Amino acid sequence: MALDIAEVAKLDVEPGTLPEKMAAWVIRPEREGEPKDAFQVEEVEVPEPGAFEVIVRVMAAGVNFNNVWAALGKPVSVFGYGDHPEHGHHIGGSDASGIVWKVGPGVTSWKPGDEVVVHCNQASYEDVEVHGLDPLAAPSQKIWGYETTWGSFAQFTKVQAQQLLPKPANLSWVDCSAYGLTYFTAYRMLIDRARIQAGHNVLIWGAAGGLGVFATQLCRASGANAVGVVSSPEKGELVKQLGAVDYIDRNEFKGMMRTGDEDAEAEKARFKESRAFAKQVKSILGDAPDVVFEHVGKATFPTSVFTVKPFGRVVICGATSGYTLDFDVRYLWMKQKEILGSHFANAYECMRANQLMAEGKVRPVLSQAMGFEGVPEAHQMLHENRHSGKITIRVGATDDHEGQTEAGEGAIWAEVGA
Ligand SMILES: NC(=O)c1ccc[n+]([C@@H]2O[C@H](COP(=O)([O-])OP(=O)(O)OC[C@H]3O[C@@H](n4cnc5c(N)ncnc54)[C@H](OP(=O)(O)O)[C@@H]3O)[C@@H](O)[C@H]2O)c1
Repeated sequence: MALDIAEVAKLDVEPGTLPEKMAAWVIRPEREGEPKDAFQVEEVEVPEPGAFEVIVRVMAAGVNFNNVWAALGKPVSVFGYGDHPEHGHHIGGSDASGIVWKVGPGVTSWKPGDEVVVHCNQASYEDVEVHGLDPLAAPSQKIWGYETTWGSFAQFTKVQAQQLLPKPANLSWVDCSAYGLTYFTAYRMLIDRARIQAGHNVLIWGAAGGLGVFATQLCRASGANAVGVVSSPEKGELVKQLGAVDYIDRNEFKGMMRTGDEDAEAEKARFKESRAFAKQVKSILGDAPDVVFEHVGKATFPTSVFTVKPFGRVVICGATSGYTLDFDVRYLWMKQKEILGSHFANAYECMRANQLMAEGKVRPVLSQAMGFEGVPEAHQMLHENRHSGKITIRVGATDDHEGQTEAGEGAIWAEVGA
C-alpha cells in the first residue's frame, strides 16, 4: 500500500505498543544535495528503545538550519557520524514536542502517555565528563537529529531519557515544538556562561533572530536591561515587545562591519563607526553593556570587544558572518574583558529554561507551521533564504492549538530571523 502522508496523524496503536513501520523523511547518501530532493518520505522500521532510551510519538517538529547541511552533505556528510553507519539513513530533526510511547530498560522517570518536549543534546552515560564536568565536554557528545539518525521528522523518534522535559501545559504541541535548540543555547550563554544579573546591561546582536528573541526575553525575566541590534524597524518593534529597552538599526552603522581586508585607512574609518555605535549603546542603556551576546562573528566581533564594559563579558556561540575573528586585543587586556565560548546546553539548563516557558515568563516565537509534507520545502526555503522566521512541522498534531491544556498566551507569531 502506498504511503499516505496526509494520514501521519492517525495511529492504530496505544502508548506502550509500537507499530512495525512509520512514515519518515529520510536522507540517504546517494541523495545528498538540494533539500527538496534529498528528503524523501519512506516507510521505515520503528526503532526499539535501548537501555535508557525512549521512543516518542512526534506531535510537532521544529526546523533548524542543521538539516539543510545534512541534506547538502556539506561541509561534511552526516553519514560518517554517530549511528548513521549502522542504519545507512538519516532521519533529521533536532526539536520536537510529543508523547512518550515506549520506554527502554532502565527508564524509571517517564512512562507511556507522558507529554514531553525534547532537547537535542546526547552523550553516553559511560563518559566520565557527563558525571562531573558537563555532557557538552563528553567525547560522545552529539546533536540528536543531526549527528544521529532517528530525529523528529518522522512519526516516532528515538531519544535518550535525559533529553525529555515536561511539556508546558500552557502551550500547544506546535507552540513548544521549535524553541529547544535556540532557546536553550541562549539560556546557557546568558545565565550560566555570562552570569547576567538584575540591573546588568546587555547588548544583543540579531535580537529578532532565532537566538535573539530568547536572549531578549531572558534579559527581561532576569531584570537585565537589553538593547537589541536589528536590521529593520519592524524587527525593532518586536524586540521592544519582547522586553528590550530599545533597539538599534544596524543599517545606520553599516561602516562598523569588519570585512577583514581593510587597509589601515579603512580600518580607521571602520573603528570610528564602531565608536559611534558604542556611544549610541551607552546612551540607550545609560552605561556600556556588562555583557555582549555574540553569534555574528567576523563582522561584529571587534565592535563587541570594544563596546563591552571594562571587566565585561562577550559570550559567543556562532559566527554567521565568518569564524576567523580579528580584533584589537588592547581593548581586551587593558580593560580586563573576557571572551566566553558557549555551545548548546546541558539537561539541567534545559530543564530550568523550560520551566520559564511553563510559567509564561518566556514565550516561543514562531512564524509558520506546515503539515508533514512541508519538510523538504521548509529546508529548501532556509537554504535559499526565502524564510522569514521559525518554521515548525505538524506531525501528530492536526491543528496549531491542539495540546494546550492550561490557560496561557501561547507562542508569539512573528516574522523574525535573517
Ligand atoms: N553553538 C550553538 O549551540 C548554536 C545554537 C544555535 C545557533 N547557533 C549559531 O548562531 C548563529 C545565529 O543563529 P540564529 O538561529 O539566531 O540565526 P538567525 O535566526 O538567522 O538570526 C541571526 C540574526 O543575526 C543577524 N545577522 C546576520 N548577519 C549579520 C551581520 N553580518 N551583522 C549583524 N547581524 C547579522 C540578523 O539579524 P538582523 O538582520 O535583524 O540584524 C539575523 O536575524 C548561527 O550561526 C547559528 O549556527 C549556534
